[in-house]
Amino acid sequence: MYKSPLNSTDDRFWIADEHGGSPFEHRDTWKILIIDGNPEVHAVIRTGLINVKFDEKPLCFFNTASEKEAKQLLLEQPDVALIVLGRGEESIGVELRLLRYIRQELNNSHVRIILLSPHSECEPEEKMIVEYDINAYMTAQELTSQKLFSTLYGALRSYRDIMTIELNRKGMEKIIEASGSIFKLQSMRTFASGILTQLTALMRLNKNALYCRFSGFAAMKNQHDFYILAATGDFSQLVDQPVQKVLSLSVRASLEQAVIEKRSLCLGNRYVGYFQSLSGTENVVYLEGAHLWNEWERNWVELFCSNVGIAFDNISLNDEIEATQREIIFTLGGMVEARSKETGHHVKRVAECSSLLARLYGLSSEEAELLRLASPMHDVGKVAVEDAILNKPGRLTREEFNMMKSHTVHGFEMLCHSKRKILQTAAWIALQHHEKFNGQGYPYGLRGDKIHIHARITAVADVFDALSNDRCYRPAWPMEKVVDLFCRERGEHFDPDLVELLIGNLDRFIGIQKAFPDG
Ligand SMILES: [Fe+2]
Ligand SMILES: [Fe+2]
Repeated sequence: MYKSPLNSTDDRFWIADEHGGSPFEHRDTWKILIIDGNPEVHAVIRTGLINVKFDEKPLCFFNTASEKEAKQLLLEQPDVALIVLGRGEESIGVELRLLRYIRQELNNSHVRIILLSPHSECEPEEKMIVEYDINAYMTAQELTSQKLFSTLYGALRSYRDIMTIELNRKGMEKIIEASGSIFKLQSMRTFASGILTQLTALMRLNKNALYCRFSGFAAMKNQHDFYILAATGDFSQLVDQPVQKVLSLSVRASLEQAVIEKRSLCLGNRYVGYFQSLSGTENVVYLEGAHLWNEWERNWVELFCSNVGIAFDNISLNDEIEATQREIIFTLGGMVEARSKETGHHVKRVAECSSLLARLYGLSSEEAELLRLASPMHDVGKVAVEDAILNKPGRLTREEFNMMKSHTVHGFEMLCHSKRKILQTAAWIALQHHEKFNGQGYPYGLRGDKIHIHARITAVADVFDALSNDRCYRPAWPMEKVVDLFCRERGEHFDPDLVELLIGNLDRFIGIQKAFPDG
């Protein structure tokens, strides 16, 4: 038994812990609160039920005679299963105030309540039983009888069933919420980390977060081994590592079993989710916790993971679509460059330089990626320009030059009808990549930030790459000469901020040239 600190000012109040020791041990018990001014009532109930267990969990009693302390206790112990509430002869109204407090103020509709009257003349009114959802009514004389046991047992059973339904409702709510969040299209890595967060939250629903700790990871098969994409708890240091190298034999054995059987498994306190996407990619989610999982939790996890499987498919399908788009864009851009006798990797280098410049300029990583995908199409409008003009070795006449300039508008018209973000971005780049910062460019002579930042970036990347590589009609310029030109054209042809960034990070841009050499 331990004394509550609240006890010090009121010797009629005490909290008894049948199991002794730390209050943290209450978690696997049925908490019963007895509120009665008569110490004998407390003693009789405790003695009568001393070794009783319900659903393999022992009972734990909290006793008080004070209304104030009872309220305090209910606040501190929201999972009290049952209240035995004594009806004092002199203090009529106390139990009504307590009932209102429990059902209305605390909004606790789960706790079961048994009213205890000193004698049979004190029967509660029917209205009170209905209004405050009272489970049973007993007189003090009945306390010694078998009725005590059966009444408490019945009330606990009803509490357990209410809580089961409540927990399942919360579980379903969480699954719907979690599924919504995983269905947002995102990268595989963000997705994997989201699954772990949602699974852990799902597992914590039924447990006090103070007592349970979950560790887990999500991994994807890459050729022969699984690589950890996201991890939590004990595994959090292992991101990007191969499973074979960093995990213990027993964890690997669990994964292997799921992979061989091609299904998700619950193994004691471990869960291994197995997912195979439509394209055949294998993914696993591993979670282990301090407690054995019950049936509901297994059902929740399985339901959630069946949605995870669909989301995995969506994401890998989306990856596939994006990869295909990328290939088509590069091929198309490359074809245009080849027709105008440009060299092999020009569009790839422009893509990489544009993306790097976008990041250095402070655009988001999504926008930089968009630029990487869209910038290779800057000259796509050249398909509408005759070969004779496109490949004319000498100087172009005014009329020919006008034809040549029209590749910007042609490119825009080819791409602007698409609703796809990449093609929309590409359309504006095609239209404006020959505009100059000083307003002397074409087709419209736009000036400064009237030219879209995507086009200003692509213009720098395009000219930088064109000058620093061989062309069929001239060799590559030495880097000093390229840098000189950009310095001269700072604020003239090019956005001065972008020129600063190019020159300030020249090594990185030269690195891109080296990574995609021609020939
Ligand atoms: Fe162009
Ligand atoms: Fe180009």
